[in-house]
Amino acid sequence: MNVTSSEISLLNIVIGFVYFIGISSSGNVRNQSVRQRSNIRQLISLHQPLCPVEVNNHTDDVECTKCNLLQLSKPRPKYPLTFIKPNKIGHVEEIQLVEGKTHRRKTLALDPPVYEIPNFLTSEETDIIKGIAENKQLSQSTLFGDGQGTRKSESAWISIRKLNKSITRLSERYEKLTEQSSWYINHAEKMQIVKYETGGYYYTHHDSGPYHLPVHNLPCCNQVKYCTTNLEQCCQLCRLMTVMVYLNDVEEGGETAFPIADTNTETLHEYLSDVNNRNLTTNCYKSSLLVSPKTGTAVMWYNHEVDEMTGLMGNLILRSYHGGCNVLKGVKWIINLWIWFHA
Ligand code: OGA
Ligand code: FE2
Repeated sequence: MNVTSSEISLLNIVIGFVYFIGISSSGNVRNQSVRQRSNIRQLISLHQPLCPVEVNNHTDDVECTKCNLLQLSKPRPKYPLTFIKPNKIGHVEEIQLVEGKTHRRKTLALDPPVYEIPNFLTSEETDIIKGIAENKQLSQSTLFGDGQGTRKSESAWISIRKLNKSITRLSERYEKLTEQSSWYINHAEKMQIVKYETGGYYYTHHDSGPYHLPVHNLPCCNQVKYCTTNLEQCCQLCRLMTVMVYLNDVEEGGETAFPIADTNTETLHEYLSDVNNRNLTTNCYKSSLLVSPKTGTAVMWYNHEVDEMTGLMGNLILRSYHGGCNVLKGVKWIINLWIWFHA
């Protein structure tokens, strides 16, 4: 992996700051493209000193034109990405993840594709993972993207390589579940173990992104081999998919919310632009999809599309917007695996 967690955190903090400026300056401007343009101007002024960017006036795309020594990997992937297409909500696919066992992968949503897989880990395995995290000592979770107060949890990071020593063939299980090449599993980010105490939560967000910034033309950070300026001038965080496993049953609350999964288009951008919608303390139970934590159950979803022709990562799936509702009683533990795109 070319980007460390602390670099990503820094990237997120800066992006969050830029986003905050963009939002607060955009006021009540109704026209989306006018607002986007004004965000672009803000972005340019912030980026200018370190890395000049250019705006394509036809598409509003921003291009980082002079990231000195920025080198990208080959554009064609050695291992094309897989995208498991959902066909119907409620559909159950029987899959073989562990020898002698059958697992069930149930479709919970189509946009984004969300799947639920009960018993992905056994309760003994979830206990092992919680024990490892407690021994490593958890620290306050770094904020993803924006400002104080959007997340109340603690976390620890561990490589899948290390976890494989305690949990039999774990990598293989993720590989079979996601149907991605083992290369992606073994080159994923470190896995994140998260603990929410009673009262813990995580406001709605995209795991990859961020949507709010017009930086879609920047390459993914994990493609950037070398960049003389700060990382955030050259790239953005691109996580193709998330596999989240609950490590315990939560007594009350702590659902994973996808507030706009499978909702209609008219209100989408308005919804995403309103920061008040992110607060799951007030909005959790208005969500179009809620998943209840259950020991060992995995929830897997796509944050990006995949281009079928090239096997490359495509656009951010806007409705992958999700978060963790308040834990009302008891604690909640999860473990996340994020699969990155590598060329
Ligand atoms: C995350 C996340 C949701 C949850 O860790 O990125 O979105 O239910 N978690 O805790
Ligand atoms: Fe998330």
